[in-house]
Amino acid sequence: MRIVRIFLFNLLLTFQVALNMYVCICNSVTDRQIREAVEKGHDTLGKLRSELGVSTCCGKCKECARNLLNEVVAEPDCFNLVLSAAA
Ligand code: FES
Repeated sequence: MRIVRIFLFNLLLTFQVALNMYVCICNSVTDRQIREAVEKGHDTLGKLRSELGVSTCCGKCKECARNLLNEVVAEPDCFNLVLSAAA
């Protein structure tokens, strides 16, 4: 049973890594980086700008970053909570 759990965890980790999406092309910021930053307390667009540089160049990512920020604040990613608890 333990081996199955480890396998499933690794499978989930693989998909999580593979599904990263660039939100801010100008600064190479992914959705995962934004999620992690929000979960660490960077819970406003201004704080994300300071931390990651998101939306500091052309600004086309601003709305997407804001939507992702609101999504994470409303419903934190259980996967990242498990990872941070295990660390
Ligand atoms: S895509 Fe984010 S500043 Fe240009």
